[in-house]
Amino acid sequence: MTASWLAALEGEASRVLPPEVYEYFRQGSGASTSADEAAAAWQRYRLVPRIFADVRDVDLATSMLGVSYAAPLGIAPTTLQRAAHREGEVAMATAAAAAHCPMVLSSNAAATFDEVAATGVGWWLQAYLPQERSLALPMLEAAVGAGCRAVVLTADTPVVAAKADGGRPSVLGQVPRRWLRTNLGDAADAPKAQDLGPADVTWLRDVTGLPVVVKGVLRRDDARVCVEAGAAAVWVSNHGGRQLDRSVSTASRLAGVVEAVSGSCEVYVDGGVRDGVGVLTGLALGADAVFLGRLPLWALAVAGRTGVERMFSDLGSELIEAMRIAGCAVPGSARTVVGAEFE
Ligand SMILES: Cc1cc2nc3c(=O)[nH]c(=O)nc-3n(C[C@H](O)[C@H](O)[C@H](O)COP(=O)(O)O)c2cc1C
Repeated sequence: MTASWLAALEGEASRVLPPEVYEYFRQGSGASTSADEAAAAWQRYRLVPRIFADVRDVDLATSMLGVSYAAPLGIAPTTLQRAAHREGEVAMATAAAAAHCPMVLSSNAAATFDEVAATGVGWWLQAYLPQERSLALPMLEAAVGAGCRAVVLTADTPVVAAKADGGRPSVLGQVPRRWLRTNLGDAADAPKAQDLGPADVTWLRDVTGLPVVVKGVLRRDDARVCVEAGAAAVWVSNHGGRQLDRSVSTASRLAGVVEAVSGSCEVYVDGGVRDGVGVLTGLALGADAVFLGRLPLWALAVAGRTGVERMFSDLGSELIEAMRIAGCAVPGSARTVVGAEFE
């Protein structure tokens, strides 16, 4: 059997990337347990397709944070896109713009906000808050000025976990500083906040005037606190298995978080999604959108902007096929017409 282009992507990327860059993208923290389990966790769900649905026109269009997009898909924030391809975040953003899907720009990026905005993409800024919060203000103001549509507060990183790198020096220390630090200003070397709380969600919303998404939620109680603090969305993530190793899979936590927020805010998910049925499973478990981390990195490495465009197009085609057979004409119907059963 020939593997699909999407399924073959990581292998292709491993051939074109310098080994240390490939390793940085692939690795998890600790023993890489959570990173290795992520994709398999989706595959443990079984879908219950519905017959007698009119699926002549399957339309992936959806809205996130009040803005229309072409599909319930987005680019998760990842560092070092410049190491995947010389056009880095600009190529990623251009492809997301062509696909009419949002891109979350990592705060550790090489491209400026204006360069990303110039692609026309609907972009959100991922932020880590420094212990001294005011140091983040210049970056937040610049993002707002450049048309950023939301702030994604990554809340699972009081400290960056040691990676499963066999003790080899990380590629992070070998790349030009500007590939990671372009937009950070004085916050570049500031220690990360270790006392993040609901007040930070409210503060971010107030200082930016933008919707705030909290990324790294795995618990029902945390999700409820985010809603009470004014979050517009919670993002179920274990950071691609790169923070607490042996943290639970996102697939297994999604439905509980969806239930906990009971429609008070949007819910996104990431982690190990590699194909259209995986996206459908996320929607069936109640996610409003599914975000992709490594998949677009591999696509960027293999073929730059056109690679990421193809990733969106192939994933969209797979999703349409899966939805049509499952009896879902629109993403919102996935939740009601496809029960997901755990085996
Ligand atoms: C190489 C790499 C760099 C990442 N950098 C960031 C980052 O800067 N900020 C952040 O919030 N998450 C970061 N993440 C986590 C992703 O946003 C996302 O949660 C994760 O990659 C999703 O899992 P997936 O790669 O299996 O799709 C990174 C992930 C990878 C693989």
